[in-house]
Amino acid sequence: MDETTPATTRLRDLPVDARAQALGLSNAQADTLRAGLSLEQADHMIENVVGVFTLPLGVAQHFVVNGREIPAVPMVIEEASVVAACSYAAKLARIAGGFTAGSSPPIMIGQIQVLDTPDLEAARERIAAEADALIHWLNHDNTATRSRHARAVGIETRTLIGPPPMLIVHVLYDCGDAMGANLINTASEALAPRVAQLTSGRVNLRILSNLSDRRLAWATCTIRADTLAARADNSISPQEIVARIVEASRFAELDPYRAATHNKGIMNGVDAVVIATGNDWRAVEADAHAYAARDGRYTALATWRANGAGDLVGRIELPLAVGIVGGATRVHPTAQLALQLLGVKTARELAEIITCVGLAQNFAAIRALAMEGIQQGHMTLHARQIAIAAGASGEDIERIATQLVAERNVRLERARALVRRDPSPPA
Ligand code: MEV
Repeated sequence: MDETTPATTRLRDLPVDARAQALGLSNAQADTLRAGLSLEQADHMIENVVGVFTLPLGVAQHFVVNGREIPAVPMVIEEASVVAACSYAAKLARIAGGFTAGSSPPIMIGQIQVLDTPDLEAARERIAAEADALIHWLNHDNTATRSRHARAVGIETRTLIGPPPMLIVHVLYDCGDAMGANLINTASEALAPRVAQLTSGRVNLRILSNLSDRRLAWATCTIRADTLAARADNSISPQEIVARIVEASRFAELDPYRAATHNKGIMNGVDAVVIATGNDWRAVEADAHAYAARDGRYTALATWRANGAGDLVGRIELPLAVGIVGGATRVHPTAQLALQLLGVKTARELAEIITCVGLAQNFAAIRALAMEGIQQGHMTLHARQIAIAAGASGEDIERIATQLVAERNVRLERARALVRRDPSPPA
């Protein structure tokens, strides 16, 4: 095994129905991956179920996170190139030791909106004076919020001048291994009558905040400059590639129009693992973009710089409210298997891996954009689809796709001619 090659098989070289076993999964687990969610299971999850909607589940390879090899990172996504791009980036990052990731305790915020208080400042002071007692009540006395896995850790207040003026009470929860939305909503509702009484106000909304800026995960990695040789054009030096990637990063840091696209690329990786593990990707999306705008100007979630040795160093930080217990992570059979594949024991570990996938995806995207552009890779994938549509199968798919791209003629009629082994392109 050389330093770039993990002890995993090149999955794409295997037939699609042999890949699960190559990852060490049992026949039963492979069947679970293929079957996905049953109609009956789906019927227990939402209302008026009439079917299930399936998406491809691929695995990214080569990831090393905090020194631990993760042979297969499950990703659910309909967009071509994302899984391959993540694997490629992880392969380069592992040469310099892989990803180093960390996370804060999983603190989520529930919000209680209080209006019509006679005196906002006095109301604030009363909540502050009673905060410890309220936390104790949530953790020990109130059956709906008492939990072995999560606990209230703080109560804070904010005032909004309005109109209308309002007091916002934040209840902070350490959610342990859960995403925490149910618990936070229960706690916010339970606390509301006490808050109304203490503030002599009227409570309106009681709901978690999807800006979980106390539940952060971050990651860094180094990509050695000498591994960055241009694939197609050797006239570009590794130093030039590093410089172009840093310029691409600065573009996203400075310009919200570019930052939105830069972050969309990050979320291509993040969401794919969030979905595979049965987590709430809408919450993760809302969180990430709100965090990207936390200083009043929308900016990049991941940045790239050259270090003293001229290598590329990437850094990402984003809020990640993901769990490994409860919700769809518990009831969806594929989500359970995805968590097993990742080998995570805590929600924080899951968040850290997801953050690395986001950074990997960002690197691969901006490297391609700063070099050959992304259309070339997309063209090859498109050519494969055209070859299949023209009736190619097995090894012919790759042969015909390569020829279509080489001839710059990715059309169905030409693909059909190649399937019939017609040697010359049409005039
Ligand atoms: C496409 O899904 C994602 C990219 O646009 C990301 C980026 O521009 O950084 C390629």
